[in-house]
Amino acid sequence: MKGPTLRVPSYARAMTPPVRNVQAALDSITEPWQPHRLASVNDYDVKVVKLTGEFVWHSHPDTDELFLVVSGQLTIQLRAGDVHLGPQDVFVVPRGVEHCPRTDGEVHALLIEPTGTVNTGDAGGSRTALLRELDD
Ligand code: NI
Repeated sequence: MKGPTLRVPSYARAMTPPVRNVQAALDSITEPWQPHRLASVNDYDVKVVKLTGEFVWHSHPDTDELFLVVSGQLTIQLRAGDVHLGPQDVFVVPRGVEHCPRTDGEVHALLIEPTGTVNTGDAGGSRTALLRELDD
């Protein structure tokens, strides 16, 4: 008896997603605080963003938010105290915890959070940015 075929159908090959490079993606971003979608995995988006200066205090009532610093020095201000992150550092802001990112110079960062998560969380306002797509 023949086993299942493992051949990838041609339509699936045609849909092969692009290889993305983290640094190239960051280099293509021109405006700070504008997250761009690097990839999606299941129901999560992996985003790249440039940060400079101070953001707004907010929380995400329904989700944790992961920060990975690629370059620069990022402070995540929490009501309980500041968290200092440098290159290659990873930090997860737990759901519902108020936070306000602040940088010393420019920071390149990667964010992982569920699709649809808004950058300003429950605060809203003028700093709210829709997720943008990278130019391939
Ligand atoms: Ni946040």
